Amino acid sequence: MLLKRFLAQHFRNLQDVDVSFDPNVNIFIGKNAQGKTNLLEAISFLASTRSHRTSNDKELIAFGQEYAKLSGTVQKSQVELDLRVLINKKGKKVWVNHLEQAKISAYVGRLNVVLFSPSDLELLKGAPAVRRRFMDQEFGQVNASYLYYASNYRQVLQQRNNYLRQLQFKRDKDLIFLSVLSDQLAGLAAEVIVRRFQYLTFLNQVAQKAYSQISEAREVLTLSYRPSIPGISKHDSTEAVYQTVKAYFEAQQAQEVKKGTTLAGPHRDDLEFDLDGSNAHAFASQGQQRSIALSLKLAEIQLVQHLTHEYPLLLLDDVMSELDHDRQRALLGYLHGKTQTFITTTDLTGISWEIIKQPRVYHIAAGKIKFVEGVEHG
Ligand SMILES: Nc1ncnc2c1ncn2[C@@H]1O[C@H](COP(=O)(O)OP(=O)(O)OP(=O)(O)O)[C@@H](O)[C@H]1O
Ligand SMILES: [Mg+2]
Repeated sequence: MLLKRFLAQHFRNLQDVDVSFDPNVNIFIGKNAQGKTNLLEAISFLASTRSHRTSNDKELIAFGQEYAKLSGTVQKSQVELDLRVLINKKGKKVWVNHLEQAKISAYVGRLNVVLFSPSDLELLKGAPAVRRRFMDQEFGQVNASYLYYASNYRQVLQQRNNYLRQLQFKRDKDLIFLSVLSDQLAGLAAEVIVRRFQYLTFLNQVAQKAYSQISEAREVLTLSYRPSIPGISKHDSTEAVYQTVKAYFEAQQAQEVKKGTTLAGPHRDDLEFDLDGSNAHAFASQGQQRSIALSLKLAEIQLVQHLTHEYPLLLLDDVMSELDHDRQRALLGYLHGKTQTFITTTDLTGISWEIIKQPRVYHIAAGKIKFVEGVEHG
């Protein structure tokens, strides 16, 4: 798929942007704090209605303004779509082809992006919450039912935690309402867990291949899902997972009431990366970490393609100069011009030009984007 034209108004420092993009590679050059990341954040927000930098949408509205507006024309193999998002102090609204969508879940998934930024290295070394956010964002954008179950899980979890906190200090404990919530939560947990297993099995296969290409087959990368509730296996049916989770809640009830919170479930699960069977979180070198993060991104691109039959956009925020020549080649060579790519950088040195064929180059300064004709490069 392609993003042909893109407009932004009052989105962070992008006051009034109207640009057309190249179907292959677009490079944005600008000094620090000029709006490079803001632009990629805006494109990614148009796709998912979520920012990778903040969960508070109001921060995205330009200082002193009442709203931010994004829109774009997306070309897929069969159709052309017009997407639009409005963010104001009350919330956000979304349109597809000028028709307002009542539910965000009916909007998300029309445009798919895979974003790679230096903070992706956190995936390996960061807290489990970083890896759960990764799963929720990536799987949510390719599967509307994942998005639906994951957000309902969060809501019921909050309700259950509130109730557990109340019970903590009550003498007469009404456990009937708790068991209703537990049953509901177990059902939603099973839907989330089964989907995570399914997508991670796919990601593991593809990331393994990508890693062996990047690292010249020195070590084998394995990606596995680690549910926090014991006794769940990737071969279990949704019903079987539901029974296991339900039994866990029953067994832990006294403990959970005492602690006033839900002790395990999808909100406590983790992802594990291994190299040749040893945990990479603790032992991977800088270079290995980069290769793992990169492999995961390449796998994500394949996952989107596999599920939607379209290649997503690839957004590379400030990462080209972090990758050596061979890894740049592995990244762009792997894609063979299949994905429309957006690259931001502070300067052109460090980018291997012979790998990128005829990119379109833009300058970005103080939130204004200008197309540069006949750019000189080495
Ligand atoms: N809500 C907002 N309204 C107006 N300006 C904002 C808002 N949020 C952030 N900014 C401004 O956007 C600028 C940062 O833009 P951005 O993060 O895109 O920089 P960058 O070009 O990626 O820089 P770097 O090379 O350092 O990563 C800062 O000057 C910041 O003050
Ligand atoms: Mg930046």
